[in-house]
Formats: sequence, C-alpha cells, structure tokens
Amino acid sequence: MARLKQTYPADGFFAIGIFNNKEQVNLGTLWRSAYILGASFIFTVGSKYKKQGTDVVNAWQKIPLFHYRDMDDLITHLPYDTRLVGVELDDKAIDMIDYQHPFRCVYLLGNEQSGLPSEALARCHELVKLPGNYSLNVSVAGSIVLYDRLAKQ
Ligand SMILES: C[S@@+](CC[C@H](N)C(=O)[O-])C[C@H]1O[C@@H](n2cnc3c(N)ncnc32)[C@H](O)[C@@H]1O
Repeated sequence: MARLKQTYPADGFFAIGIFNNKEQVNLGTLWRSAYILGASFIFTVGSKYKKQGTDVVNAWQKIPLFHYRDMDDLITHLPYDTRLVGVELDDKAIDMIDYQHPFRCVYLLGNEQSGLPSEALARCHELVKLPGNYSLNVSVAGSIVLYDRLAKQ
C-alpha cells in the first residue's frame, strides 16, 4: 500500500478566546481582528456570546466561534500537539518582545473585570505579556498578540 509522503510548510494555526467574557462588544471586535489576522477559530470559556454590531465584517460567517464550559472542557478539546498560551500581565509571563509564537497554539485572554484567574493561569503551557504597567482593553490586547505573531513570521 502506498504511504502518504507529502510534507507541508510548518506554518501551523492559531485561535484566540476570552475566559468568562463580560462585554459582548469586545468579543465582536476580537472576532473581527481574529478573522482579518488569520485565526482558525475563536472561543469563549464559561460565558456565551450574542452577535454584535462591532463585527462589521461578519466574521461569524468566516471563522467559527466555539463555547467551552470551563477550563477542563477547553483543555479536553485542544487540538493535538497545540500549546495553550495565557495572555496576561503576570510576573511569570514572557515579554512579548522576546516571545517566539508556537506553530500551533490557542491564546487565552482574561475578562475585563478580573483578568485570568490563577486556576486558569496554572493550566496554560506558557504565559506572555504585552508592555506597560496597566492593562489594555482585552480585544486590543488580543489584536496586538495576533499582529505580533504575523509580524514575526
Ligand atoms: C482589561 S484586562 C483585565 C484587567 C483586570 N482588571 C485585572 O486587573 O486583571 C483584560 C485582559 O486583557 C489582557 N491584557 C490586557 N493588558 C495586557 C498586557 N499588558 N499583557 C498581557 N495581557 C493583557 C489579559 O488577557 C487580561 O486578562
């Protein structure tokens, strides 16, 4: 029997989502950025999402949104050999300037009010942070992370 010998460029894929999202408008903005910057899907952990006016490019028609019940559900459904990257202003996080993005990864952001809780941070394979002493808006932070990935390719 013939064996499949093809190999493919190691560009990988990525997705981005928010833990316990509070402001629906931010998820709509992030969905739009994620689609434009090349994400394969977006997701929420904990909370659900209703379509927003901020998604003016109708990104919901282009890349899917998945809902995970909790961190266990997210981790159970992580694609094979894919890193979970927590994005948080945390002492243990690597500075984005020095960060090499994994070929295959899922970026996890915290919500507007409380950020990523310690239980979620502990489940991530790695943590990255953006410059600054104060938190950015969650959809702004997510968009910068995706731009950084593209810029380093
Ligand atoms: C508005 S912030 C959360 C602020 C929250 N009040 C706190 O003190 O943790 C929402 C999310 O955006 C992301 N974020 C904002 N600024 C960031 C930064 N400088 N580095 C990494 N992530 C950031 C994180 O995922 C964060 O959980």
